[in-house]
Amino acid sequence: MNSMNRDGETHSSFKDISIERPQVTHHVVQVIDCLQLLSGIPDNSIQLIVCDPPYNIMLADWDSFDDYIDWASNWLLEAERVLTSNGSIAIFGGLQFQGEAGSGDLLSIINHLRHNSKMLLVNLIIWNYQNGMSAQRFFANRHEEIVWFAKTRKYFFDLDAVREPYEEDVMKIYLRDKRLNPETVKKGRNPTNVWRISRLNGNSKERVGHPTQKPRAIIQRLVRALSYPGSTILDFFGGSGITTRVAIEENRHSICGDLDPIFPHYTDLQIQKVMPPDMFSDTQYEIRETVGQEHPVFEL
Ligand SMILES: C[S@@+](CC[C@H](N)C(=O)[O-])C[C@H]1O[C@@H](n2cnc3c(N)ncnc32)[C@H](O)[C@@H]1O
Repeated sequence: MNSMNRDGETHSSFKDISIERPQVTHHVVQVIDCLQLLSGIPDNSIQLIVCDPPYNIMLADWDSFDDYIDWASNWLLEAERVLTSNGSIAIFGGLQFQGEAGSGDLLSIINHLRHNSKMLLVNLIIWNYQNGMSAQRFFANRHEEIVWFAKTRKYFFDLDAVREPYEEDVMKIYLRDKRLNPETVKKGRNPTNVWRISRLNGNSKERVGHPTQKPRAIIQRLVRALSYPGSTILDFFGGSGITTRVAIEENRHSICGDLDPIFPHYTDLQIQKVMPPDMFSDTQYEIRETVGQEHPVFEL
């Protein structure tokens, strides 16, 4: 992205996009292997992929592979195919997970994409949390990473949707500063690529029972910044169903899948959390749940 700044190219996310709040959003929830789900999705149809893969670190039965990158390369290739030209993929992971033969980590994915894909690395986001394990032989780890790759240089990015308000006293000082544009100051600050968001603790009200459920605040920031109302979000490692919940709340369509048969149950629990009717004054949503290995074909 630095070359874009150097060349003086401007980046207009909203050019050629007509954003209209849909009256109804549609949400597919499917028990299915990631590659089978991807095979039914048309080219250039997905605005944002939220991707939180297993890393072969034996966290659960699903977390074990003989050749990790060999497996991951299949869904990474498919992910690039289904993204729209201004679409993005946000991949969760850690850099500290490597080691075991056949295991993967975010570095191996980044390295693979650098050499085998045209997608561009826009940001490495540091998810910093204060709660975590203690350590005696190294500094206790307090971050994971999320890497954002865009399909092309024309990627969509809505910074205003995720700006953070300045504290009142800071705002007053900035508004007096003649070098700063008051309109931009009033909009708030760029949240930067270091996101301080707590991990879900055991008794968090957000929890639905999945062992590696991510906080809603993280998915929400990704969805708000990298997609727009009426666009489609894909999550083929759906886990706890949090992406479906956020898509409903943010007026996006969604396609979410997971191999685990408990996935629709988790998603139902997520949906119950956004059910109060007053939260959806004018927008409806429809859920299509499919259990079993039906081969899906999506018309988007
Ligand atoms: C790290 S978890 C995702 C957690 C999710 N982001 C959340 O916040 O709830 C990875 C998920 O991938 C699923 N999974 C593993 N292998 C899969 C495959 N081949 N196809 C689809 N899902 C798979 C697992 O069942 C697990 O729920």
